[in-house]
Amino acid sequence: MNDAAHPPEAAASRDFVAALRGAAPYIHAHNGRVFVVAFGGETALRPDFEQLIYDIALLHSLGVKLVLVHGVRPQIEQQLAARGQKPQFAGDLRITDAAAMECVKAAVGGLRMDIEAKLSTGLASTPMGGARLKVSGGNWVTARPVGIRDGVDHQLTGEVRRVDIASIRDVLAQDRIALLSPIGYSPTGEIFNLRAGDVAQSVATGLAADKLIFVLDSAPDRWQLADETGDAGQLPLGEAERLLAASPAPVSISAEDRALLQSALAAGRGGVKRVHLIGADPHGALLRELYTRDGCGLMFYSDENYESVREASIEDIGGILALIKPLEDSGVLVPRSREQLELEISFFDVMVRDGTVIACSALFPFPQNQMGEFSCVAVHPDYRRSGRAEALLRRAEETARKLGLKQLFSLTTHTPHWFIEHGFVQGRIEDLPMQKQRIYNYQRRSIVLLKDL
Ligand SMILES: CC(C)(COP(=O)(O)OP(=O)(O)OC[C@H]1O[C@@H](n2cnc3c(N)ncnc32)[C@H](O)[C@@H]1OP(=O)(O)O)[C@@H](O)C(=O)NCCC(=O)NCCS
Repeated sequence: MNDAAHPPEAAASRDFVAALRGAAPYIHAHNGRVFVVAFGGETALRPDFEQLIYDIALLHSLGVKLVLVHGVRPQIEQQLAARGQKPQFAGDLRITDAAAMECVKAAVGGLRMDIEAKLSTGLASTPMGGARLKVSGGNWVTARPVGIRDGVDHQLTGEVRRVDIASIRDVLAQDRIALLSPIGYSPTGEIFNLRAGDVAQSVATGLAADKLIFVLDSAPDRWQLADETGDAGQLPLGEAERLLAASPAPVSISAEDRALLQSALAAGRGGVKRVHLIGADPHGALLRELYTRDGCGLMFYSDENYESVREASIEDIGGILALIKPLEDSGVLVPRSREQLELEISFFDVMVRDGTVIACSALFPFPQNQMGEFSCVAVHPDYRRSGRAEALLRRAEETARKLGLKQLFSLTTHTPHWFIEHGFVQGRIEDLPMQKQRIYNYQRRSIVLLKDL
C-alpha cells in the first residue's frame, strides 16, 4: 500500500467508522434501557473523573435511562481528619455517631454538588457541549438503623428499608438522570449513613434495571475470579457465587470490593439481568464494556433461564431424542441414531427444567481449522422465544473460545434467519473444514453460516 494513497487520516477515519458501525448493535440494544451506574468516592477523587462523567453523558445521549449512585467514603475520611476525629469501624462497616454524621452530611453535600456541577458542564470545548443534562435527586431512600451487632451499636449507620421506585421512574420518564447519595431518611426524621453498594443494589432491583454497573477504583478484570471467565469476562450468577464461596478471601479482592461483589450478586439474584464490574480508567472502560463485543470488565448474568444448562450426560439421551425426534421427522434436523448420540453426547449441552430436557445444542470442535460446529440446536415449542437458544449459543461461544477456536459454523435449511440475527453471516461450502465438506449433503443443500468469535 502506498502511504500517499492512504494517509494516516484516512486510516483513522476508517477506524472511526468501523468502530461506530461496530457499536451500532449495542446502541440499538441499550436505547431506552435502564442502567444503574454506581461508583465509589475514590473514583470521584481520580484526576480523570471528568472522563467518566463525559462517558455517562454520552450514555444518556445514546438513549440510556440512567440512575447514578455515588459513594463517599474517602470524602468522609477527609472531613473527619479535618475535624480531628478518628474514623470508627466495626469490621468493614463505619460506626456513625452524631459527630461523624456531621462529616457525612458535609461530604455527601460537597460531592453531590461537585457531581452535579460536572454533569452541568456545557462547554463546546468538552464532550459535554450540547448535552444539557438534567439531574434530579430526592428523599427516595427510606432507611433503618443497622442497630446493635455483636454488641456494637452502629448508631446512625443504616441499611436500606425501601426505595421510592415510582418517583425514580417518573424522573427517568422525564429524560432526567437520577442521582442518589448513600443517605437514607427514616420515618422518625433521622438521617442514616448507608453503603453505596446497598443503595445501588436496592434501586437496581426495585427498578428491575437492565444493568447494574459498578465502576471500581480497582481493576476487576485482573481479579482471580476473572481468570475463570476466559476471554469473555462473563459468568453466570450461580457460577460466580460458587467460585466466591469456594475461594474464601481471594487475595486480589479487598474487603470493600468483596462487599460490592456481594451487592452485585444480590442484585443478580433480585432480578437484575446483567451486573457489570469495571475499573475506573481514563480510557473509557464504561463505553468499551457496553459498546464493544469483548467488553473490558467482569459481567455476571442472571441464570434464571440458564441455571439448568449443563453439559449433557448419557442419562440425557432419552430426553434429547424426545426433543429432536419431531424436528427430524419434519426434516428440520438431520436424523441421529441413538448410537450416534451416545458417541457424541460429550459435545452436547442441555437445558433441563423439572427433570425434562427442554433445549439442547452441540458444539463439535474442528481444532485443526480453529472452527467449531454449532448444531442440533432445538428448543421445546413450549419454551421458545425466551432467549434459550441464544443462551445455548452464548455458552457454546464461551466453550469455543476456551478451546482456542476462532470461528463457529452452522448448517441449516429451515432456520438461517435465527443464525443471522445472532451474528452469523452466510458462507460457502469451501469455508467449511475439509472433513465437513466431504460429507456435505448436496441434496439437502443446507446453508452455511459462519460467526467469528
Ligand atoms: C430456532 C430455535 C432453536 C430458537 O429457539 P428459541 O429459544 O425460541 O430462540 P430465542 O428465544 O433465542 O430466539 C427467538 C427468536 O428467534 C426467532 N426464530 C425462531 N425460529 C426462527 C426461524 N426459523 N427463522 C427466523 N427466526 C426464527 C423467533 O421468531 C424469535 O424472534 P422474535 O421474538 O423477535 O419473533 C427454535 O425455534 C427451534 O427449536 N426450532 C426448531 C429447530 C431448529 O430450527 N434448529 C436450528 C437448526 S440447527
